[in-house]
Amino acid sequence: MAAAAVTTLSLSTVPCKTRLRPGASTTNARQLSDSSSLCQHSLALHLKPRAARPRAARRAVVVAQAGGGGGGYKVAILGAAGGVGQTLSLLAKMSPLVSALSLYDISSVDGVAADLSDCNTLAQVAGFTGKDELAGSLAGADVVVIPAGVPRKPGMTRDDLFSVNAGIVKELAEAVADHAPGALVHVITNPVNSTVPIAAEVLKRKGAYDPRKLFGVTTLDVVRANTFVAARKGLPLADVDVPVVGGHAADTILPLLSKARPKAAFTDEEVEELTARIQNAGTKVVEAKAGAGSATLSMAYAAARFLEASLRGLDGDEAVYECAYVQSQLVPELPFFASRVKLGRDGVEEEVGSELRGLSGYEARALEALKPKLKASIDKGVAYVQQQQEAALN
Ligand SMILES: NC(=O)c1ccc[n+]([C@@H]2O[C@H](COP(=O)([O-])OP(=O)(O)OC[C@H]3O[C@@H](n4cnc5c(N)ncnc54)[C@H](O)[C@@H]3O)[C@@H](O)[C@H]2O)c1
Repeated sequence: MAAAAVTTLSLSTVPCKTRLRPGASTTNARQLSDSSSLCQHSLALHLKPRAARPRAARRAVVVAQAGGGGGGYKVAILGAAGGVGQTLSLLAKMSPLVSALSLYDISSVDGVAADLSDCNTLAQVAGFTGKDELAGSLAGADVVVIPAGVPRKPGMTRDDLFSVNAGIVKELAEAVADHAPGALVHVITNPVNSTVPIAAEVLKRKGAYDPRKLFGVTTLDVVRANTFVAARKGLPLADVDVPVVGGHAADTILPLLSKARPKAAFTDEEVEELTARIQNAGTKVVEAKAGAGSATLSMAYAAARFLEASLRGLDGDEAVYECAYVQSQLVPELPFFASRVKLGRDGVEEEVGSELRGLSGYEARALEALKPKLKASIDKGVAYVQQQQEAALN
């Protein structure tokens, strides 16, 4: 079948709009226009004929092997049998940029892989169950997404997950270093503020660390901020874009409402109410699920949006922007920090520091307040890997 005629259930086929803000510098205007259009449209699920686009030679080979048009990247999902993992696997299966999908879990993923394989979309699905099959799941991966680990129960903070999830992320990062050292790595497992530094330390110790390629997925904070701000201000949802910076736990999550687009006036009460709502949204879901886990559907949606943005960056799309928790130089005392970043062929191309300038008084105080908390979480992750290594030597 001709590629151009294939009808694909697409995650990102709506073209980006170009909106230049009067007075913005060239760089900023481009960042603003692209991030907002990407943010709002990249996960518009719709049936739409997708025209074939020119691809790099390497990808053309992969596409030919996959027997379809478009696509070409291999994505591995570690923890694919879980609540986030299964839904994310479905959304990844729907992406025209994914030609191969590896599903790995310590629980059986055979059923999930068989089920998804029946969807008539491009990606070839393979299931890998148990530690003996971890290496196979990672071979040749362009992007590795990690939602493996335990979720919160009511009354728990994200940090309460550290004792279990730190070891899981360490083990999986070691495998990535050994079997997919060039891949982009998206860490979803909480506490993200610590698990990303853990992954970084592991990769460093194995000589496989490229700071441009390691991400903590904070997209759900942006998704929630956009949803709540649109509802509060009566704005069209597709137009709203709120950068969220800092980290991904409680009040380390800092939505920058003063930088929201379209520009909106917020009273002090609205700023406090919206900020608290965005910071506590995950806890609200945990309480509503009453012991059955934390956010899975919205998380998978957010992770799929970030995956699609990353793949578009790898694919050479110009000016792809998303917020993510990455190795950072924006705040000197915080080696990891969430901000808007530009995504390209090698991962992070640049951090958008401009959004941290000209903060409101409320935001500036909140940023100061979150610094020691986020620093402690980063240090905890680094210390964990150090302790594990010392224990292994003794
Ligand atoms: N970053 C965010 O915004 C965000 C949002 C929601 C959830 N989360 C986190 O995502 C993680 C997963 O949540 P969930 O609801 O899918 O949990 P879940 O319990 O439904 O699924 C977790 C899966 O991980 C698997 N797993 C456990 N140890 C593993 C290992 N060593 N290797 C491979 N797989 C392993 C389990 O078998 C299970 O299938 C949690 O840590 C949760 O806190 C993050």
